[in-house]
Amino acid sequence: MTNTNPIICALDTQEVDVATQISREVMGHVGAVKLGLEFFTANGAAGVKQITQLGVPLFLDLKFHDIPNTVAKAIAATAGMNMFMMTVHTSGGQHMLRAAMDASDRVAQVTGKERPLVIGVTLLTSLDQDDISLIGFNATVQEQVLRLADLAQSAGLDGVVCSPFEIAPIRKACGTDLALVVPGIRPEGADAGDQKRIMTPKEALARGADYLVIGRPITDASDRAAAAKKIVESLQ
Ligand code: C5P
Repeated sequence: MTNTNPIICALDTQEVDVATQISREVMGHVGAVKLGLEFFTANGAAGVKQITQLGVPLFLDLKFHDIPNTVAKAIAATAGMNMFMMTVHTSGGQHMLRAAMDASDRVAQVTGKERPLVIGVTLLTSLDQDDISLIGFNATVQEQVLRLADLAQSAGLDGVVCSPFEIAPIRKACGTDLALVVPGIRPEGADAGDQKRIMTPKEALARGADYLVIGRPITDASDRAAAAKKIVESLQ
């Protein structure tokens, strides 16, 4: 990941060919690409390696959530995949989060490269107030997000995923140490699609985002490189 380009292009595909093609087109215009559970389930580590072998930095978004031992082993097993960032569910609890950090250190020892960043998912944005009450969380959505961001920070995680509208409250509660990885971003004038609460890349960065996860505004464009380039230019 280059420190100068905060854009992570969400590939959101399970096809190796599609991920390869898009990665080739956007490399050099974005800081990294993101692959998720559907890609990993379809293609496994071998498929992931095909993408990292292109030389593009990878955010592997598998949202691990299990007992500490299992999460640690899963993270240790990612060593050959060469990603720079991964996700775990903060609701896995402090012991799981600490185990994830230790495992990430061990990945660095094995690879001799920088430790992959471990980023916590707080509350999925697909959950509303009714959903979290049914799960048994006795808090508002925002209280719960802040509580889990605080847990992530105290367990030593590198950052959390959050919606653009959670950037300011999390920055206020947790300071500037925690990296904020922010989806729900739409360039000026772009189609919102199914995203309901969106923000422009420039505004999200101004509020304190560190990484912007952007999918369809780049992947659906007829000229993906140009679309990515235009987004980067809009940050100036
Ligand atoms: O195409 P779009 O820019 O909406 O893609 C956003 C990416 O960020 C997708 O990979 C989506 O799954 C992910 N994401 C999200 N909202 C969240 C968490 C992740 O849109 N709260």
